[in-house]
Amino acid sequence: MSTFSYVAAAIVLFTLVLGNSNAQLSSTFYDTTCPNVSRVVRNVVEKAQQNDIRIGAKLIRVHFHDCFVNGCDASLLLDDADDIDSEKNAVPNLSTAGYPVIDDIKTALENVCPGVVSCADIVALASQILVSENGGPTWEVQLGRRDSRTANRAGTTAIPSPLETLAQITKKFTDAGLDSTDLVALSGAHTFGRAQCSTFVHRLYNFSGTGNPDPSLDTTYLETLRKTCPEGGNGGTLANLDPSTPNGFDNNYFTNLQNKQGLLQTDQELFSTSGADTISIVDRFANSQSDFFDTFAKSMINMGNIKPLTGSDGEIRSDCKRVN
Ligand code: HEM
Ligand SMILES: *[C@@H]1O[C@H](CO)[C@@H](O)[C@H](O)[C@H]1NC(C)=O
Ligand SMILES: *[C@@H]1O[C@H](CO)[C@@H](O)[C@H](O)[C@H]1NC(C)=O
Ligand SMILES: *[C@@H]1O[C@H](CO)[C@@H](O)[C@H](O)[C@H]1NC(C)=O
Repeated sequence: MSTFSYVAAAIVLFTLVLGNSNAQLSSTFYDTTCPNVSRVVRNVVEKAQQNDIRIGAKLIRVHFHDCFVNGCDASLLLDDADDIDSEKNAVPNLSTAGYPVIDDIKTALENVCPGVVSCADIVALASQILVSENGGPTWEVQLGRRDSRTANRAGTTAIPSPLETLAQITKKFTDAGLDSTDLVALSGAHTFGRAQCSTFVHRLYNFSGTGNPDPSLDTTYLETLRKTCPEGGNGGTLANLDPSTPNGFDNNYFTNLQNKQGLLQTDQELFSTSGADTISIVDRFANSQSDFFDTFAKSMINMGNIKPLTGSDGEIRSDCKRVN
C-alpha cells in the first residue's frame, strides 16, 4: 500500500472509532433487558417531588456536573473510599444534591432488573422526566452508558464557575464538545432551582473592587437580592435562579436576562457581554418557548453524549455510591 493509502485507512479507522463513542447509545437500549425502566424511574421521582419541589433541579445539575468530568459515567456519584478521591467533595460541587433519590431509583431498579441499568443512565432519565413534569420538553433519552470504576477529583476544574467570564465558560463548553447554542440552551436549566448567596453576593455591593454593584444588574432586582443576601450575611441563604417563575420550566429565564435579572454573573453575561454571539440566541429563546424547548432537548442529548462508557467498558454498579 502507498503511504497515501495508509494515511487514508488510518483516517477512516480513526473516524469510525470516534464516531462510535456516541453511536452506541440508543433510546431502545433497555427495551428487552428492562422494559419498565422509565416507569420505575418515574414512580420514584414523582414521589420524591412531593417532598422536594427542587428535586428536578438537583438531579439535572448532578447530570451536568457528572458529564463535564470524564464524561457521563456516574463518576460524580462515588463516595470517598480507599482508592476513590470523590468528585462530590471537590470545591466545584457547590452543593450538588439529590443523591438519596438516585439511590432510591437504583434500589427500585435492582428489584425489577438487577445489574442492568447504569447509574449514569438513571441520572439522564430522571433529568428528562423531571424537566418534563415541571412543564419543560420531553425527549427520547439516549441510553446504554456504563458506570466508571474511578473518580477524577482533579478533573472537576472542568466544571464552570459562576465567577468566570463568558470566554472562559465558552471554552469549557467547547472542550466538552458543546457550542454556544448548547451553552445558552443548557443555561436555560436555571429556569428552576436555587443558588446560595455565596455564588452571586460579589455582584451586590463591591463588584470587582469598584465600590459599586454589578452594572448589568437591574436596580429593583438588586434591592430584592440585597435583602436576601445582606453584606457579610449568611452565604448559604437561597435565592431563586428564576425570580419570575421559580419552579416552572419555561423560557422566562431568557426574558429575565433581557431585563437584567439574571441571578448569576455567568447567566447575565450571556446577554450583557458586548458583541457576544450568545445575545442573539438569548433573544431567540426569549421570543419562542418552543424554539427553546426543541433546542434544549437537542443540547441535553449532546451533553448526555459526552464520552459515555459503553460496550464492556466500566460496569453496572449495584450501588451508585461505590464501585462493585
Ligand atoms: C454555564 C455554566 C454554569 C454555571 C457557571 C453554573 C453555576 C451554577 C451555580 C453557582 C449554581 C448554584 C449552586 C449553589 O448555590 O448551590 C447552579 C445551580 C443550578 N444549575 Fe447551574 N451552572 C451552569 C450551567 C448549568 C447547566 C448546563 C445545567 C443543566 C443543564 C445547570 C443546572 C443547574 C440547576 C438546575 C441549578 C439549581 C440546583 C438546585 O436547586 O439545587 N447549570 N448553577
Ligand atoms: C411492567 O410494569 C407493569 C405495571 O406495573 C407490570 O404489569 C409488568 O409486569 C411489568 N413488566 C416487566 C417486564 O417487569
Ligand atoms: C462539597 O464539597 C464540600 C467541600 O469540600 C464538602 O464539605 C461537601 O460535603 C461536598 N458536598 C457533597 C454533596 O458531597
Ligand atoms: C471595594 O473593594 C476594593 C478592592 O478589594 C477595596 O479597595 C475598596 O475599599 C472596596 N470598597 C468598598 C466601598 O468597600
